Amino acid sequence: MSDNPYLESGPYDFQPVDATDEPSARKEAELLVEAIRHHDRQYYVLDAPTISDGGYDQLYARLRELEEIYPQLRRSDSPTGRVGGGILESLPEVEHTAPMLSLDSSGDLERVLEFDDRARRSLERERIDYVAEPKFDGISIEIVFENGTYVRAATRGDGYSGEQVTEQVRTIKSLPLCLAAAESPTLLAVRGEILMPLAGFHAMNRARVEAGDEPFANPRNATAGAIRQLDVAAAAARPLDLFLYDVLACEGAELPATHSETLEWLRELGLKVERDVARCDGIEAAVEYHDRLEATRDDLPYEVDGVVIKVDRRADQDALGFRSRNPRWAFAHKFAPREEVTRIEDIALQVGRTGIIAPVALLAPVEVGGVTISRASLHNYDQVRDKDIRPGDSVRVHRAGDVIPYVVERVDARPDSERPAPFEMPETCPVCGSDVEREGAYFVCTGGVSCPAQLNGAIEHWASRSALDIEGLGGKTVRQLTEAGLVSSSVADLYVLTRKQLLELELFGELKADNLLAALQKSKATSLGRLINAFGIRHVGEHVAEVLANEFGSIAALMAADEETLTGVHEVGPRVAHNVREYFGQARNREIVERLVALGIDPQVEKSEEAQILEGEKFVITGTLSRMSRQEAGALLSDLGARVTSSVSGKTDFVLVGENPGSKAAKAESLGVPVLDEDEFLALLAERGYSAEV
Ligand code: IVH
Repeated sequence: MSDNPYLESGPYDFQPVDATDEPSARKEAELLVEAIRHHDRQYYVLDAPTISDGGYDQLYARLRELEEIYPQLRRSDSPTGRVGGGILESLPEVEHTAPMLSLDSSGDLERVLEFDDRARRSLERERIDYVAEPKFDGISIEIVFENGTYVRAATRGDGYSGEQVTEQVRTIKSLPLCLAAAESPTLLAVRGEILMPLAGFHAMNRARVEAGDEPFANPRNATAGAIRQLDVAAAAARPLDLFLYDVLACEGAELPATHSETLEWLRELGLKVERDVARCDGIEAAVEYHDRLEATRDDLPYEVDGVVIKVDRRADQDALGFRSRNPRWAFAHKFAPREEVTRIEDIALQVGRTGIIAPVALLAPVEVGGVTISRASLHNYDQVRDKDIRPGDSVRVHRAGDVIPYVVERVDARPDSERPAPFEMPETCPVCGSDVEREGAYFVCTGGVSCPAQLNGAIEHWASRSALDIEGLGGKTVRQLTEAGLVSSSVADLYVLTRKQLLELELFGELKADNLLAALQKSKATSLGRLINAFGIRHVGEHVAEVLANEFGSIAALMAADEETLTGVHEVGPRVAHNVREYFGQARNREIVERLVALGIDPQVEKSEEAQILEGEKFVITGTLSRMSRQEAGALLSDLGARVTSSVSGKTDFVLVGENPGSKAAKAESLGVPVLDEDEFLALLAERGYSAEV
């Protein structure tokens, strides 16, 4: 394997394929398959890639080319088979190699201690060695390898047989299509969980909402939907991952004597196994693991709904046996539920800065996963109607991490005759009384800035941190300014405010007035990216605004760009292009820009003259930097050709950390991504020939 040139990181210098030399092509294809498998494992299983994305793409494209010219070289377990071409007719039922049992479970500590008591009495032992591991909230799956090759996958079904989803599961990149060990078992059936990482889930839901599709309620449903897709390419497009945690059957190899060693063995075979599992000497350590994992639950990249505690020694497991369908050697210690049932007291309407009127559920306060909530999103009118939610209904609400809680479904058993009439959207804006128009899934107030909700929202956004970052201009101050009529038509009014006007307002003393005027003055020197973000164009957030700024260089150039030019910009889709065009197409908005330019707010982006010494490298910045702001560091990195992304993955090249870094630094460490403090960052730049004057 070591003399395989494609294990090196690339780029590669391929010669055109010789269509008359099959033996050479065969040899090359074999090396490519071997190398791609190796890189897949490094990237998807071990989170430690040793090749650039570009190099990987080159290898993959070369293998496809060879397989196209010589179709006979295409093996059934080729990595190119993962893209999933076919459409299946159905999901045939298959019997499992061994029954897929379920677990006894509870969130009560007492029940966990009882489980331990029973096991200790039965084994006549003082203490038992356990393994504690995450209970993944995904879809349980059986995966079968014959002579080291992936042959079949099936959902759990009734535990004895399930639906065959071999082709859908083949598209999951962290599944090896071929086991790594030289001598793999003749038969290996493993059990694991398929799940959708949260970042992928949220991105997919955002795209669905933009395309006018219903979002999935949770990653588990999204996973189930993806795995049962008959269109295999559609399944391949969903961001799925896989963890294995149990052996259902093994022939032709001896299983290790303990569960912990079995996990290690599965990992050696190339299967993806969770790293954060704990060997526990006694139940107390397992409970500690549970409490630690629950406390950090919101930082995990996927949903975990508890901890599975398993007796480590296989001989002990056998001695304990089963009770009906549950093993006596394992117990699921659940976390506090993320979902609770409560009553909707009323449905309120919230008008956002872009005029979208969103229904919001006002709830009888309820504790969900440790936090009391009294409001939840209902998304949009279509969802309220489809879920048939009305005031007074009992509903199930879900809260995860820092995402706004939302109403999952109605669980009310009352007959319709005892419920109020179905909820309807109003025909006029609840804030300003202007007409409401329907735009796809949204209801929009047509009042523009004559609607106080829109005017206040637009100004608050203008002043917000990621936009013009105007200190002292929060919600309360904004309302005073608009209610007094001092700011009445647009953000441009802010820049003609006088000290005298401010001093007449209740909230203002001399100091506050002077500070605000100074902050406004300072905000005129903003960057183009921030200014574009500040306009609040729908779907144009911080990142897209930065992309547009770098591409067009000035507001005038952006305003002049037609839809086609906009769509041609990398990372700008048709929806963004349309919204940008529509925004600047309105005379009112062009007037605002003209007023701003006349006031001296007209930032330009200098096209970078810097050598692209970080070309194509991906950086994530976290924590507070001391010598420059994060924005400045980001701008510098872009100037030098790097890409700055918001989340750490195996593809990240470097993470730049300042003071009080968040979970991103820890994640980088766990993925083996190099973490640089500011000094190391500057040293890296210097090493590459850049002298920073910071
Ligand atoms: S062990 C016989 N380990 O939780 C024991 N199950 O009923 C087999 N689950 O749907 C299960 N994470 O799919 C085990 N680390 C883990 C798990 C796990 C999630 C699921 C399993 C089943 C449910 C328990």
